[in-house]
Amino acid sequence: MDLSPPHCDYFAAGVCRSCTFIETPISAQLEEKQARCTEFLPGIPSEAWLPPVGGGVRAFRNRAKLAVGGEAGDVTLGILDREWSGVDLSECLIHENVIRSVTPTLKALVNDSGIEPYLVPKRRGELKYVHVTANLSSELMVRFVVRTEHGLGLIKRQLSRIRQALPNAVVISVNLLPEHKAVLEGEREVTLHGEALAMQLAGETQKITLHLRPQSFFQTNTQVATALYNQASQWVDRIDPASVLDLYCGVGGFALFTASGATGSRRVLGVEVSEQAIRSAKRSAKEAGIPAQFFAADATDFAVSLAREEMPELVIVNPPRRGIGEELAGWIERSPIHHVIYSSCNPASLARDLERMPSLHVKEARLFDMFPHTGHLEVAVLLERVSAAQVS
Ligand SMILES: C[S@@+](CC[C@H](N)C(=O)[O-])C[C@H]1O[C@@H](n2cnc3c(N)ncnc32)[C@H](O)[C@@H]1O
Repeated sequence: MDLSPPHCDYFAAGVCRSCTFIETPISAQLEEKQARCTEFLPGIPSEAWLPPVGGGVRAFRNRAKLAVGGEAGDVTLGILDREWSGVDLSECLIHENVIRSVTPTLKALVNDSGIEPYLVPKRRGELKYVHVTANLSSELMVRFVVRTEHGLGLIKRQLSRIRQALPNAVVISVNLLPEHKAVLEGEREVTLHGEALAMQLAGETQKITLHLRPQSFFQTNTQVATALYNQASQWVDRIDPASVLDLYCGVGGFALFTASGATGSRRVLGVEVSEQAIRSAKRSAKEAGIPAQFFAADATDFAVSLAREEMPELVIVNPPRRGIGEELAGWIERSPIHHVIYSSCNPASLARDLERMPSLHVKEARLFDMFPHTGHLEVAVLLERVSAAQVS
């Protein structure tokens, strides 16, 4: 695989600086990220770190969040600059190839619809973003983020043309974001075609399909996500707990991988706040015949209400950037749970949470380069409770 820094015209011209480190060789990027992890997590002995998992150099991002600029009939899809003018990034090289190949078609469809791009300074117009997610079979989920019902109507009218021009778009939806807010989507979603995008991942013992609906979270780099779930599954198999609780389970990646690898009667339960994600996870488990259960709830509320006899032997947590926080970390610290796998996209909140669980020590840790060319990273650690005898 060619790991030399790719040449990005947008970066060279100074029109997009999102991939801050694109001109740095990937090996140096990984070294810097590893050094940062070591700095944030000084308590992890150097021998506990497994070799980092690389995330690729180009075409690794399964999702594009394209801001719409320009004017009706002549739009740009990419980002907005400091003056809120559209910068077209149709050729962005970090997006998976299928996303790049359909971007000109998307642009033509938006132009034909006559829909006006949303003008941030004037708070006028309709179309704010086009989000595109791809699976490894080049199928797509396409979501149009609009301001009002009028925008929804315009996209609806184009539906048959969109389906004709993009036959691989298995899910097409419109998201409504009426507020003038710096967020990428609103709460209301209207699905116009299909239901879920099947993200196929290669587990160690079987292929696992995660069904992704429009508003659910999914890791942005499919290869690295697969490596992360396989790593967690290997740790769990080595420990072979009778029960696993996967908190913040999303559409079920960790739970389904760890349940599929079980040889005995391992009980696996995933908990997640999004009902939609839980529906997807249940469907994936049923279709693959994987005996994992899923439940929609707040992770902390669910955990702290467990009776002693319901305690899992192993807990997986994969929270948002803020981390698991004081209450959940305190609950784990005081519980009899022997092992924890903590996967984090924020070493600072991970470090804070680890300090709140002094009885659990890091046995192994690994950096996953989920977001090449940026300063972001994913790090997973395997924690083990230290017995009183070991401490003294
Ligand atoms: C970093 S994502 C991880 C998802 C999943 N583990 C995966 O690998 O795709 C964090 C997840 O936590 C969920 N979440 C956020 N707040 C939550 C809460 N208070 N309780 C339970 N889940 C929550 C989000 O909906 C999101 O799916």
